[in-house]
Amino acid sequence: MSEKGALRSLLGICWGASKGDEGSSGKSSSNSQRRQYSDSDDISGASFSQEDLSLKLAGSNLHAFTIAELKAVTRNFTMTNLLGSGGFGPVYKGYIDDKLRPGLKPQHVAVKSLDLDGQQGHREWLAEVIFLGQLRHPHLVKLIGYCCEDEHRMLVYEFMPRGSVENQLFKRLLASLPWSTRLKIAVGAAKGLAFLHHDAEKPVIYRDFKASNILLDNDYSAKLSDFGLAKDGPQGDNTHVTTRVMGTHGYAAPEYILTGHLTAKSDVYSFGVVLLELLAGRRCVDKNRPNRQKNLVDWARPYLNNAEKLRRVMDPSLDGQYSVKGSQKVAAIAYKCLSHNPKSRPNMKVVVETLEPLLNLNDIPTGPFIYVAPKEKVDEDEEKENDDKKKEKIETETTTQDQKNHNNRDQRHKQRFPNSVIHSEVTLHKDGKSLFRNSHFRKYQRHNQERGA
Ligand SMILES: Nc1ncnc2c1ncn2[C@@H]1O[C@H](COP(=O)(O)OP(=O)(O)OP(=O)(O)O)[C@@H](O)[C@H]1O
Ligand SMILES: [Mg+2]
Repeated sequence: MSEKGALRSLLGICWGASKGDEGSSGKSSSNSQRRQYSDSDDISGASFSQEDLSLKLAGSNLHAFTIAELKAVTRNFTMTNLLGSGGFGPVYKGYIDDKLRPGLKPQHVAVKSLDLDGQQGHREWLAEVIFLGQLRHPHLVKLIGYCCEDEHRMLVYEFMPRGSVENQLFKRLLASLPWSTRLKIAVGAAKGLAFLHHDAEKPVIYRDFKASNILLDNDYSAKLSDFGLAKDGPQGDNTHVTTRVMGTHGYAAPEYILTGHLTAKSDVYSFGVVLLELLAGRRCVDKNRPNRQKNLVDWARPYLNNAEKLRRVMDPSLDGQYSVKGSQKVAAIAYKCLSHNPKSRPNMKVVVETLEPLLNLNDIPTGPFIYVAPKEKVDEDEEKENDDKKKEKIETETTTQDQKNHNNRDQRHKQRFPNSVIHSEVTLHKDGKSLFRNSHFRKYQRHNQERGA
């Protein structure tokens, strides 16, 4: 039996009586190869067995593992193998080879285990098996197998050594993610989405595009993971699919939240949010930021198509080591992706065509890598002053002078210690959260306080 045929049968088993695609306004296509998927089907998952699944998936590339096997693979799901945890449940690192199953390539894997008390369930597990079992692309994470035993639901993926973009962008302590790496990630992730929208046998809307769902290979090649919310795109003349509104706060497109109408352009919006996070080095939603900046898109969007103001958005930890021309082009395409009118957003092919040539720009300033920890408190001060134009002018002049002083000091430091690679104006506390400014910054703050800022 072909893989696709097997997967259709799998759906027959897992979904019980076929209920059609209730949540979709698309007409189902009779000659389609890939099974339609609906998140409105009411499936308990209790009506099928592991044996049925194994039988029906025989011949497919997916391996059906037992709990005992996955226990052995992950050293009994030991905490030291825990890679992280999300809405589905914990993810453990493991190792497989042909001793487990003949023909298995020796490799590390990530085993995701459904938390039975968690937010997700059989439905998401099944969507993952259906979509990732059929879709193969260099920018989609590879699903190696699954486990469906009693109430247990597990997924076994290729191991992605660099973890998620979320971890690399927001949780790195030692050095900021370089500009060229951010661009490479953006291009890879864009290619993954472009494949789903334009090149897959039938268009797929991913619906959960976000920094934590983009995983990274050793060389920072990006791969999309987590197809638990994915949907088949609209069919025939239909313009959208109607669904329950699901996704992640901060990433979901505004019109989708309002109407439940899902299109590929909803993914394009989410892509724009991640692009902005890559530019700014900030999360799309952060309650700890000053009021106006809590929502990154609302705050930053007006700056994206303004070359002068764009530097306010750029991640300070890049410390100027990025292509100015490249950043402007990235910002311009992010601006379009974040348009409130879905029709004004570019499609993902255009996004790839726009971003890929930027990899060849070589106007990135050279020099030792400099890490400058984020200056949240300074941003807060700046924001208060933005309300008063006169104060803003003084602020700009002060900042420029302080920056010059800092640059001179940094230059002197570099001359004295030419091999030093880390120059920081703040000291990062061990827990990675508390920031202690050095005397230079304390002086700067005192100066502001004395001015009544
Ligand atoms: N194939 C993999 N290789 C390496 N690490 C992985 C892999 N899959 C997931 N992880 C890691 O496991 C952690 C949890 O991932 P998971 O996808 O379950 O949750 P999430 O994406 O953080 O949240 P959400 O439930 O909203 O998707 C993340 O830190 C991720 O980097
Ligand atoms: Mg995820």
